[in-house]
Amino acid sequence: MQINPLSDILGAEILGIDVGNLDKGSLKEVHEAFLTYHVLVFRQQELPPEHQINFARNFGELDIHIQKDNQFSGHEELQILSNKKVDGKYIGSPSAGEAWHSDLSYTDIPTLCTMLYAVEIPEIGGDTEWSNMYRAYDALNSDMKKRLAGLHARHTFNRFRNPRVEVPDVYKGKGKERYVDVAPPDAIHPVVRTHPETGRKALYISERFTIGIEELEEEEGQNLLDELIAHQKKREFIYRHKWSEHDLTIWDNRCLIHIACGGVPEGQIRHMHRVIVRGDKPF
Ligand code: SIN
Repeated sequence: MQINPLSDILGAEILGIDVGNLDKGSLKEVHEAFLTYHVLVFRQQELPPEHQINFARNFGELDIHIQKDNQFSGHEELQILSNKKVDGKYIGSPSAGEAWHSDLSYTDIPTLCTMLYAVEIPEIGGDTEWSNMYRAYDALNSDMKKRLAGLHARHTFNRFRNPRVEVPDVYKGKGKERYVDVAPPDAIHPVVRTHPETGRKALYISERFTIGIEELEEEEGQNLLDELIAHQKKREFIYRHKWSEHDLTIWDNRCLIHIACGGVPEGQIRHMHRVIVRGDKPF
């Protein structure tokens, strides 16, 4: 297998393998590359849902996303992210991931890694960006590192409780109840988490899901969040991926945040399959 770094910030592309058919030695190599580069892009994969699901199982137990309405029929582990419509209705989520986040940080046991497969990509738009939270943490000055030690943040799925994010039209009105119906109780996690495999520290908050700092008064907590959110979105931590058809990406949610960049023109299709692997409780 050939491993080519995609930037000096994060990311590597993997050539010369078929993820549906890997021996133990290759899987070990892939896992080491995953810890080193945090995002892997496997090019030109022919990947029916069951092969994607089987490959993801090599990384841990699969999770079922709380939003059940975008599930692939017959495979509840696989979600469709798509702007395709059939009979006037979206066949998947057209707006997933449109604000910076780490997957399922609003649950007690967030996602270890996410696998996203590009079934169909548009000519324009539809990129994904990841920001490296090891680097964001390392770049903080020592006073800020001391200030963050021991602090915990509150994460929620419910957009209506987060003034930093917009509520897409599809969720307005009746959607309000829908959020309340599916949102789990808030999750409380350390503002700086330790990666369970590498032992490195990473900033663990995000614009989409984090709504407060437990140990601070409201105003002080919001000011601190504003500062950290601006910091984690600096270009020096970010890699932007322009998808090719049949790219399979896998990324480490324990040390990255990511965003779907949007910008797909009317009439062009972006159709993706997503599987998530359950992690462990952040510490
Ligand atoms: C996600 O946030 O899981 C999806 C990202 C994307 O579609 O680019």
